[in-house]
Amino acid sequence: MQDGCTLALDGVTKSFSQGRPEEMMALADISLDVAAGEFLTVVGPSGCGKSTFLQIAAGLMEATGGAVALDGRPVDGPPGGLVYLFQQYTRSLLPWRTVIRNVEFAVEGRGRASRRERREFCMEFLEMVGLADFADRYPWQLSGGMQQRVAIARALAAEPRILLLDEPFSSVDALTRMELHDMILKLWEDRRFTALLVTHDVDEAVMLSDRIAVLSSRPSRIVETIETGLPRPRDRITTPELPRFLELRHYLLESLTKPKDHAA
Ligand SMILES: Nc1ncnc2c1ncn2[C@@H]1O[C@H](COP(=O)(O)OP(=O)(O)O)[C@@H](O)[C@H]1O
Ligand SMILES: [Mg+2]
Repeated sequence: MQDGCTLALDGVTKSFSQGRPEEMMALADISLDVAAGEFLTVVGPSGCGKSTFLQIAAGLMEATGGAVALDGRPVDGPPGGLVYLFQQYTRSLLPWRTVIRNVEFAVEGRGRASRRERREFCMEFLEMVGLADFADRYPWQLSGGMQQRVAIARALAAEPRILLLDEPFSSVDALTRMELHDMILKLWEDRRFTALLVTHDVDEAVMLSDRIAVLSSRPSRIVETIETGLPRPRDRITTPELPRFLELRHYLLESLTKPKDHAA
C-alpha cells in the first residue's frame, strides 16, 4: 500500500445562505496542515462546523474561500485515495447486500482480476475487524457496533491514503466505542494512512491522536493545536490513567466549555 498523504487547508471559509438574504458563516478561517501518516483530531462543540469542515476537506462540499490541497494538489472534487467514514453506519451500508458484498463495494470497478480474488481480498478486511463469520449476513442482522465495523472494513478495503472520520464512534455504546478505538488504532498503526477525525468527544480525541486541533464555536476557527505526546501503542485501560492524558482531558474540557475570546 502507498503511504499516507498530506492534507493542507489554507484560509478555508464557508458560509451558507440558507435561502435567506443574510449569510450564516459556519467556518471563519481554517488553516491546518495534516502530515503524512499523522492521526489528527479536530474537536469542537456540536454545531460548530466539524462536518462542514470535513466535507470540504474531502472535496464533497465547496468552500466559500480558501484552498484545500492533497499532497500539494488542489482538491476540487473527491480525490482518489481518500475515504470518508460517516457517523451513520446505517445510512452508509447497503441493506440489500450481504456484509461481504458491502465490503466488496469498495473495490468494485478497480479491475481486480476475478470475483474470487476480490472476495479473498475483502475477507481479509472482515477478518481484521473480527467479522469473518458474519460475511453472509445482512447488515440489519448485526448490532450497531458490528455494522460500524463492517463500514470500517469497507473503508480500509478501499486502501485509503487518507481516512476522514466524521464522529464514526459516537452512535455506539461506550464499550463498543472502546473496542472500535482499539481496532482503528491497530489498523492505523499497521497501515499508516493519514487519519483526520472530527469529534466532540474529548476522551476519544486524546486517546487516538498525535495532535488535536481545537475548534471554536461558530463561526469556527482553530483556536490551537496540541501535540498529545502520549506513548503508543495506546491501551484502553492504562493510557487514560496517564497524567498527560488527564492533563489534556482537563484542559480540553475547560477550553470547550468555557469559550475564550477569539476576537483577536
Ligand atoms: N447544507 C447546509 N445548509 C445550511 N446550513 C448548514 C448546512 N450544513 C450545515 N449547516 C449549518 O452549519 C453549522 C455547522 O454544521 P455542522 O458542520 O454539521 O456542525 P457539526 O458537525 O460540528 O455538528 C450548523 O449551524 C448547521 O446548521
Ligand atoms: Mg457533524
